[in-house]
Amino acid sequence: MSVHDEQKRAAARRALELVEPGMLLGIGSGTTARFFIEALGERVAEGLRVSAVATSRESEELARRLGIVVVDDPLQPIDLAVDGADEIDPQLRLIKGHGGALFREKLVASSARRFIVIADASKLARRLGQTFVPVEILPFLWRQTARRLAGLGADVRLRAGQDTPYVTDNGNFILDLTFTGGIEDPEGVAAAIKATTGVLEHGLFLGLATGAIVAEVEGLRILGSLS
Ligand code: 5RP
Repeated sequence: MSVHDEQKRAAARRALELVEPGMLLGIGSGTTARFFIEALGERVAEGLRVSAVATSRESEELARRLGIVVVDDPLQPIDLAVDGADEIDPQLRLIKGHGGALFREKLVASSARRFIVIADASKLARRLGQTFVPVEILPFLWRQTARRLAGLGADVRLRAGQDTPYVTDNGNFILDLTFTGGIEDPEGVAAAIKATTGVLEHGLFLGLATGAIVAEVEGLRILGSLS
């Protein structure tokens, strides 16, 4: 297992300590979230009773395979959501969605009492925008939407799938936006993206994470609060 994977697993196992019997959990997507789901599955096999909302079909299938009860539209709020991230800045602002699940991930994170990010140290960024911001858009007239987003000063690329555009679990396309030099004003950029006709959701997660568990070579670093 690579150092990054060991760090992801360490962060995931720490997050598992926050899980209590009877909780409704939000389970994320991506390789770090996968470590969390697998660890949760072990606890469920030992008798822990929880239910979960999944942020992608892939996570849902894995969770069900491991015996975790997955629900679609629960009546009660989500107690605890645990998910990975692509970038984390010092104010716990995030870029998410490189795995393509950002819309459901944001719905789950916004519906949770606590949203804890788990990550390896490579995800820490002094300023957001070191990579790219994924934006889920309606396929209809997608080139027009891309043109409007390019007007915000971003390099805009349609995400490719195997031989056609990548299609999300929700049947939509993703545009990946790169901002040269990073994003100076994440709140301003987030508002401008969101206000663009054709945009369904974007991967800037601002003011949503309540805490983060970041695994570094020296050990686990906690940002924000885990409680
Ligand atoms: C998927 C996500 C993931 O949380 C993010 O891409 C991190 O993935 P990984 O844990 O594989 O590094 O936002 O849409």
